[in-house]
Amino acid sequence: MILIKYLKHTGNPLSKTYTYGKQTIDADDIAAVVEALKSDWLTVGPRVIKFETDLTNRFGAKAAVAVANGTAGLHLIGLALGWKPGDLILTTANTFLASANCALYCGADADFVDIDEVSYNICPKKLEVKLKSLKQAGKKVTAVIAVDFAGHPCDWSTLSKLSKEYGFDLIDDACHAMGAKFEGEEICSGKFVKAVNLSFHPVKTMTTGEGGAILSNDLEFIKKVKVLRTHGMTKDIDVMERNDGPWYYEMQTLGYNYRITDFQCALGSSQLAKLDRFNEKRRAIAKYYDENLDKSLMTLPKVASNVEHAYHLYPVLLNLEKFNVGKKEIFKALQDVGLNLQVHYYPVPLQPYYRKKYGFQESDFPVAYSFYQREISMPVYPLLENEDLVEICNRFHATLRKFLK
Ligand SMILES: Cc1ncc(COP(=O)(O)O)c(C=O)c1O
Repeated sequence: MILIKYLKHTGNPLSKTYTYGKQTIDADDIAAVVEALKSDWLTVGPRVIKFETDLTNRFGAKAAVAVANGTAGLHLIGLALGWKPGDLILTTANTFLASANCALYCGADADFVDIDEVSYNICPKKLEVKLKSLKQAGKKVTAVIAVDFAGHPCDWSTLSKLSKEYGFDLIDDACHAMGAKFEGEEICSGKFVKAVNLSFHPVKTMTTGEGGAILSNDLEFIKKVKVLRTHGMTKDIDVMERNDGPWYYEMQTLGYNYRITDFQCALGSSQLAKLDRFNEKRRAIAKYYDENLDKSLMTLPKVASNVEHAYHLYPVLLNLEKFNVGKKEIFKALQDVGLNLQVHYYPVPLQPYYRKKYGFQESDFPVAYSFYQREISMPVYPLLENEDLVEICNRFHATLRKFLK
């Protein structure tokens, strides 16, 4: 029913190609950006502050800082928490590079935990085993960055308990999951964690082009993030060592230029107002796939009963034993019929850089590796019409069936 409400026919789906994700830009988004471009402020202006206020109002966190991109956000979180050489940051094996790289940017070490077979998120049981063995070896974990993969919230209650028991900072890399809920609570409210990190890259559930944000209920932490976002500069007379006049600023810590522009934030506020509608559409698309994809050929994602999924991705796991070719051949054949999909993710610890640095191998992350071997992300974005979904499923099934043993 929801599909019928939101999916109107435009164009001929037969001639279309499809990607796994795509932005939705309406006339009001364009008007908001044009208005910002005509204003006096292109950056460090009122639209940045408005976007930050809109984010806190929408998600319920006490404060938000908008930044250049989601990677910069993770780096700033690490800097503000004082990560340094000797610190150990754990994250999931199944994520984008940035969730681990941020530890190394700060001089800390990254380590990885395998995923849960059902949610595809960091496995709390395996995390606990790792925390115990590290503790026995006299090593402390500084922070855990959990990622709500595909938009399915992590098990935040178990992760929060572990964070209290083992004394690490818990970070939510919620780049896939804006608007998702865990036990009725917005995950971006920051209720479960020290900080939430968002990305507004065009394939995400709302966009500013490039962009990101950090949300937190710890106002001292947010203050540090704001200073670090602009070179470590301050004009706060209460903390400056001297005050030569109105022009004067001080750099008391080493920061970066991780700012976002006003025209990006104008787009952000406009998109944020539509996030619920976008997510409703994403859930309707997922429901269509749940009901129409052939479960004899693939395993479909499962949703825990205590969460609301944001469906940045709809990952299916091919039943490879049914086919007479491997995923590479199937993937190429899908491209030949206009399905330009993607795989999320080759496990980060198996990337050449991390293998060389820490000696990781496939057997260290058996679930994430097997997931990678079978996974393909189906198209999910609000512009998909009912006819598109029919067409996508037809092409997907016809291609897979060509290769049945
Ligand atoms: C889980 C996750 N974390 C961090 C990032 C980094 O975000 P950005 O591309 O905005 O730097 C991404 C983006 O793909 C992501 O998927």
